Amino acid sequence: MSISRRHFLAGASALAGTAAIGQTTQSPRTQPIAGSLPPGTPVYQSLVPPQLPTLRQAGASRNLPTGCAVSIPALRSDPGYAQLIRQQAGIVVAEDAMKFGPLRPTPDQFFFDDADLLMAFAQANGMQVRGHNFVWHHQLPDWFASYVTPANAEAVLVRHIETVAARYAGRMQSWDVVNEAILLSDALPGGLRNTPWYRLLGPRYLDIAFHAARRADPTALLCYNDYGLEGEVPEEAAKGEAVLALLRGMQARGVPIDAVGLQSHLVAHAGGYGGGLQHFMQQAQAMGLKIILTEFDVNDRYLSVEIASRDEVVAALYRSYLNLTLPNPNVIALLTWGLTDRYTWLNINKANRDPRPERSLPFDADLHPTLAYVAAVEAIQAARPRPL
Ligand code: XIL
Repeated sequence: MSISRRHFLAGASALAGTAAIGQTTQSPRTQPIAGSLPPGTPVYQSLVPPQLPTLRQAGASRNLPTGCAVSIPALRSDPGYAQLIRQQAGIVVAEDAMKFGPLRPTPDQFFFDDADLLMAFAQANGMQVRGHNFVWHHQLPDWFASYVTPANAEAVLVRHIETVAARYAGRMQSWDVVNEAILLSDALPGGLRNTPWYRLLGPRYLDIAFHAARRADPTALLCYNDYGLEGEVPEEAAKGEAVLALLRGMQARGVPIDAVGLQSHLVAHAGGYGGGLQHFMQQAQAMGLKIILTEFDVNDRYLSVEIASRDEVVAALYRSYLNLTLPNPNVIALLTWGLTDRYTWLNINKANRDPRPERSLPFDADLHPTLAYVAAVEAIQAARPRPL
């Protein structure tokens, strides 16, 4: 364990909630702590200041639940990972365990072991939980295609949602009821994606799903969740408008929808985020919708292989994205998609540029904090506290 890691952990656990929170920290670029580090410590590690609150503490200080997606296999097998999640996450979401396929080994069975494990872990550690997700075109079970027909599809969907939502009712901060329903290139009315649920039920599958979720869990915020809504290129602006039109239609029909999830899977290369993202969030706010940053990470595969400069670019994107989004008071929670590069989904199908793991998350594959962690903490500290 490096000295900076020890300092970091000591600092994080010793913080009495507010001591360092809100304290202005200089950019790590101008405040290296290399003098306190043994020779040979990687430069990217030496740039992380030792005295910062955890993400969880920073979020709590702003009443902005901050946390991450959790891999249940890793939670079971990797104590260092579990400890890091305990320390850093005030809100968790299952990376896979609450999706339709993982929950449904057969048409008549529910497999709740992994999902229950996360609920118990969250409860034991005082964390909030998000549910992800009831309706998606990926990670459906193998039996789905042959078993579900236009005649039984509504019953299958409603039974699934009612069973799962009811099991965790009263314990969920929010549920992603429908995930990724818009894909303009499918050229369907309203920009809807051509998914199994669409082919079985037509566009009404969305309304059915939200009504079922509300019936079974009246307290969870019900969300529509999607990617590519940031709107800096014409396709994304058009997708954002299609999502807003979808949500307006649902509101007009009295469908219970409370929030929109911006997945926030960013890719580090040329582009940044600005007016399009602001516009989307303002529109959602005007509709009375809450906004949740649900799956934030930065894909670094187009950057140079040199880690120090890669980290700087990734951290700059963390900073600029969060500085744009967190000032909107309707943004009520922030979750990264994973916490450590040891397990990020971005390591799957990686480009061959660098055999090492991506550096996409606040903690690297050695569980050391990265500059992205610094950027995230500082952006949260710069945000106004949400009302209690
Ligand atoms: C990903 C998981 O991280 C992987 O473990 C799984 O193999 C595929 O799904 N958008 C979403 C998430 O809404 O559910 C996806 O999660 C990532 C993209």
